[in-house]
Amino acid sequence: MESLISLCKRRGFIFQGSEIYGGLAGTWDYGPLGVALKNNIKKIWWKRFVDDRDDMYGVDAALLMNPRTWEASGHVAGFADPLVEDIKTKRRFRADHLLEDAGVDVKGMTLADMDAKIKEKGLKSPDGNALGPVRQFNMMFKTNIGATEDGSSISYLRPETAQGMFVNFKNILDTFHPKLSFGMAQIGKAFRNEIAPRDFLFRAREFEQMEIEYFVNPKDWEKTFEHFRTEVLAFTQDIGLTQKKVHELEVAEADRAFYSKRTIDFEFDFPFGKKELYGLAYRTDYDLKQHSEFSKVDLSYFDEESKERFIPHCIEPSFGLDRTVLAVLVDAYQEDEMGAEEGSKEKEGGSVTEKRVFLKLAPSVAPYRVAVFPLLKNKPVLVEKAEDVYKMLKKVIPNVTFDDNGNIGKRYRRQDEIGTPYCVTVDFDTIEKGTGVTVRDRDNGKQERVMIEELIEYVMKNAHN
Ligand code: GAP
Repeated sequence: MESLISLCKRRGFIFQGSEIYGGLAGTWDYGPLGVALKNNIKKIWWKRFVDDRDDMYGVDAALLMNPRTWEASGHVAGFADPLVEDIKTKRRFRADHLLEDAGVDVKGMTLADMDAKIKEKGLKSPDGNALGPVRQFNMMFKTNIGATEDGSSISYLRPETAQGMFVNFKNILDTFHPKLSFGMAQIGKAFRNEIAPRDFLFRAREFEQMEIEYFVNPKDWEKTFEHFRTEVLAFTQDIGLTQKKVHELEVAEADRAFYSKRTIDFEFDFPFGKKELYGLAYRTDYDLKQHSEFSKVDLSYFDEESKERFIPHCIEPSFGLDRTVLAVLVDAYQEDEMGAEEGSKEKEGGSVTEKRVFLKLAPSVAPYRVAVFPLLKNKPVLVEKAEDVYKMLKKVIPNVTFDDNGNIGKRYRRQDEIGTPYCVTVDFDTIEKGTGVTVRDRDNGKQERVMIEELIEYVMKNAHN
């Protein structure tokens, strides 16, 4: 993780939030390459779940919502994590994390169970002091709306994007008149005042979610659940995650959210353990029913065929975008040995090798699919030709970059580190012999010559999946 975090900073993927002020725990700023990677993931998700389907309605709801939303959804009363406080330093910790770190399986444990276990094991805070009782800590960020600071103006930063869809259910029904089954999809920020943000992007206080609320007749919930189970896994393939690192966990009743009748967690083998990447939940008619009751607006659906009126049930696949970025990065991070300057520097008795770090990203998510170089920066004839090749490629694939900084070995290393699958070099043979350009494969360093007229086809075939 340390090597990856330092690569992310060094190469402009991800920086600590508000870094020049010493940072702000649980926040991360994406730099140009991080944004490119994240946008590629969003595009792939939106294509699979919205554009390629006829039954999905995309929305982009406001982050601030009427506070009644959060009373109806159950977040005001119950969106909490178990907290313990160091009685001396007053620092707060997640009780379940302390227990897990001490080898306790916390699944299904109540607050009282955790309290008893902490006492039984004599657990101390990480600062070495005694701990207070375990209590619930609501994770929503409160904020004041408007100029007054009295209770009536309190709202919350949304802790999930889901509710922005439930409150717009009727708008979609009234404007598009969809027949069941249909879904709503949204990508956007969510905020949680995590007690202990940790593991880089894994547990942050501000993060993005990609969520679907899919509405069905209750008789169809099982079939729809299975459908999305396959679709979630297909998405992990689209973004190139190693399939054997993705696991399904059937969540036991005691560990499910109170509104869920069935939940599967999709876990991923992160360097810090097998942890939740995504969730798939059968939320029943809980949310629409609650919003109907609290808003006094009828959120039922009339089925023309059966002449029945009912509140649709909901299947929810929920994806953390930043956790996806992290999974993609840790999965792609590789180290190997390669020729120090790839053949340009030979020592007596054999070639010099050096450790190489590279990101084996799928071309579909890589910030750049191709980098174009002139072999030498100070030869205008090479630079001009390389610029022509760059412009030609850029017309068909927008994420191409031009690099003439440093020597060729350094450029290869730089592109390897940011995960560019192919490097195209214009050399003297390109100009003098008309033998095309060299194309170097990131994963094995092998080079082949490709004629310029065939380059677009080559790139589309190899770097466009
Ligand atoms: N609408 C359902 C919902 O929000 P959740 O399991 O609380 O369910 C869904 O969150 C996904 O959001 C998680 O599977 C994870 O990918 C992501 N997520 C949740 N909390 C997060 C955090 N603090 N930092 C980063 N991602 C988080």
